[in-house]
Formats: sequence, structure tokens, C-alpha cells
Amino acid sequence: MVLACQNISKSFGTTPILNNVSFHVNDREKVAIVGINGAGKSTLFKIIMGQLTSDSGDVIFQKGIRVGYLAQHQDLSGERTIYEEVLSIKEDVIRMEENIRTLEHEMKNVTGEELERMLSSYTRLTHEFELKNGYAYKSEVIGVLKGLGFTEEDFDKQVASLSGGQKTRVALGKLLLSNPELILLDEPTNHLDMESIAWLETFLLNYNGAVVVIAHDRYFLNKVVSKVVELDNTKATVFEGNYTAYAAKKEQMRETMIRHYLNQQKEIKHQEEVIAKLRSFNREKSIKRAESREKMLDKMDRLDKPTTVNAEMHIALEPNITSGNDVLTVKGLKKSFGNLTLFNDLDFEIKRGEKVSIIGSNGTGKTTILKIINNIIAADGGEVKLGAKVHIGYYDQEHHVLDMNKTIFDEIQDEYPYLDNTKVRNVLASFLLLEMMCLS
Ligand SMILES: Nc1ncnc2c1ncn2[C@@H]1O[C@H](COP(=O)(O)OP(=O)(O)O)[C@@H](O)[C@H]1O
Ligand SMILES: [Mg+2]
Repeated sequence: MVLACQNISKSFGTTPILNNVSFHVNDREKVAIVGINGAGKSTLFKIIMGQLTSDSGDVIFQKGIRVGYLAQHQDLSGERTIYEEVLSIKEDVIRMEENIRTLEHEMKNVTGEELERMLSSYTRLTHEFELKNGYAYKSEVIGVLKGLGFTEEDFDKQVASLSGGQKTRVALGKLLLSNPELILLDEPTNHLDMESIAWLETFLLNYNGAVVVIAHDRYFLNKVVSKVVELDNTKATVFEGNYTAYAAKKEQMRETMIRHYLNQQKEIKHQEEVIAKLRSFNREKSIKRAESREKMLDKMDRLDKPTTVNAEMHIALEPNITSGNDVLTVKGLKKSFGNLTLFNDLDFEIKRGEKVSIIGSNGTGKTTILKIINNIIAADGGEVKLGAKVHIGYYDQEHHVLDMNKTIFDEIQDEYPYLDNTKVRNVLASFLLLEMMCLS
């Protein structure tokens, strides 16, 4: 066993987040932590890593174990390039290589006993170097960077200039290359394209250590994990098996809970009817009987109504003006950055009511297309024609449109001053944001 969490509890103010959470992770085991937003998944990781203290409970690591942690949000700064940043993980191997080169050089000028001595440290050093994959560390670094979706042109970019998602990928690369016995990953797939997710699946599956991962991508989890820890309503439940097994078990439990609840409700209703009837007779004897049934009813352990799956959003996207049938026409669109050509002759049309998805690997120009349509950057050629009465709503990848100092409520109201408080609250509620709104 590499990690055990025992009865961990944590509240923020008066709000309980985790209540007696217990689970353990075996050698090389791959475990998922799942739960809706705000369930306390990131909080649990921070407690495991000692960045937050729990109110009670213990985190126990196997002795001498190395733990790698990818936080959900991070900031890398400094002058280093992507390649240098990731290569820095291999500092010990690089230093060994330098020592070996120096020794080789020095050995040319000595003889006898001294040479013997140097030769034996040389043998020891090269052996250790080999064990640490020293002869292949550069290709290992390049393999991971490419796996995470960086191209060779990216390698020389300065880390400080990268987007949040790219920084996360750099941090993930460093972590994977540092080869710890236990890896904790907080939503690593959020910033990866499909190819990189597939690469990460294989990497983690074959990883020679234990992995605990928070993710919402069920296909990814299904490939990687053999145990699921679910956080729900402050409680943790451990399910052995992959994600499909978890989902099936969960559905079964839910059905049972609903059945029990409905049966109990039926029984309560029946008792209440009998009681009302008995009381209506208005005789001493029948009132006594009614009272005794009432007592029983009061003592009954009432089941909570099973929560409907509250991760389901209820959003109706209703444009407030109906546009013409032609919504967007793009013809011969061209865009290059330096000598990197993203697209040369891009044509497409969107008609009223259509829902369109743009897919492609990282760096192929998906966001660029949206930015051109939204007039944030200019195309090199071609035309973008909006239809009559078309208004664009744009949700960008990096949330540049958000002011981090405003509350969620103000953010919406300042953007749409004509919405009254109730409308704003309704919009937020449909995105399941009401509770957060009250907190901020
Ligand atoms: N430092 C903090 N102070 C107060 N509340 C916090 C803090 N960190 C997280 N929370 C609250 O605790 C809850 C769980 O948060 P988090 O662990 O980030 O959830 P998850 O990662 O499952 O989405 C949320 O309601 C969040 O707003
Ligand atoms: Mg989180």
C-alpha cells in the first residue's frame, strides 16, 4: 500500500466538505476520484499533499515514497523554454553525464593505482547512469513533450508566455518524467486534445507506480483506473472495478434507493389516511389507536428523497431575436503565423438552428477560427459574412472575458444590465452556480 487516507474530515467555515473520508491506494494501483464540481476532490488532494490541514483524520504514505502532484491550476514563470523547463527534471542525469565526461578526460592523463581507482568509479557511475535511462533521457523528454501535444517548434517557446492550458501540459510533462512512486493528477485531461488524452491513457496504464486521478472524462477513466472513489455529499464510497462497473453499480444503488423511498412514502401516506379515519370516528378508543399509530409514524426512520442527478443542467439557449436562415458564411479563409500555415482555403456555412463542432488536434487553428469570426484577430484573406440579425456569443478558452475580481453575479449583471436580479439568478441556477454565487 502506498497511501492510506483514514477518516479525513474538513469543513470550510460551517460548511462540511469531507466527512470521514477513507480509502487506500495499493502499489501501482490506478484510482479515480469522481464527484460533481465542488464535491471536495481538489480539497482532498491538497490535504493529502499537506497544503491544507484536515480537521481530523490521517494521511499515511508508504515510507520513503516520492509523490508527484499536478494541481488543477498552476502558474509557471521564468525565462526557461518549454524544453529547458522539462529537461530540468533530468538534472541529476545531466550532472552524471558531465561527471562521466570529466572522468573520461582525466583518465587519459593518469596511470597505475590512480587509474585503477578512477576506472572503478567510472564503472559505478556509468552503471548508475544506465539505470537512470541516462543514454536515452533526451528522447524520453522529447517523447513525453510530443505525447502531450507539443510540436518541435513549441520546444523553444518561453514558459512564461504560455496559456494556462499549455503551462499545465508542461507541468504534467515534468511530473511524468520525474517518475515518482505515486502520482496525483487533478483534472489533467482538461487541457489535452483527443490524441494527447489517448497518449496519457497508455502512459498511465503502463506506469510503473500508483496513480490517483481526478477527471470527468469517463472514457479516459474507463481505460486507466481499476478503482473509483466517489465523493458525494461529503461522504466517500469506494468501488472496485473500472468506470463502467462503477456507473452500473451506482445506477443499481440509485434504483434501489428510489424504490425504498417510494415504498416508504406509500406506507406513510397509508398510515396518515388510517390515522385521519380513526380520528374522524371521534371515539375515545379510536383516538387512542390513532395516537399510537402517530407515535409509530414519528419514530419511523424517514429516508431522504434520493437526489435527482443534479449534474444535469437545464439550459435553454433561446436567442432573443430570430436571425435569417444564413447565419454564417466563411469563404476562402486564410491564416498563417510566420511560416506556419493554419489554413489556406477554408469554406463553411452555418444555417439557423445548426449546432456545429470544430474538432482537430492542438495547434491546428480551431481557436484561431473563432477569434477571426469574433474580430479578435484578422485573417490573411477570405471573407466571414454574418447573416441578418445575427449576434454572436463567445465563450473563450482562457476566460479572458472574465474579470477575476468580480463576483459571479456582478460578472453576469454588468455584461447584461437589462437583466433583472431574478433573471440573473435563473441563468446562474441553470448552470448549477447558485451556491457558488452566494459564497463569493
Ligand atoms: N480555501 C477555501 N476556502 C473556503 N472554501 C473553499 C476553499 N477551497 C474550496 N472551497 C469550497 O469547498 C468546496 C469544494 O471545493 P473543491 O475541493 O475545489 O471541489 P472540486 O475539486 O470537487 O470541484 C467548494 O464549495 C469550494 O467553493
Ligand atoms: Mg477541483
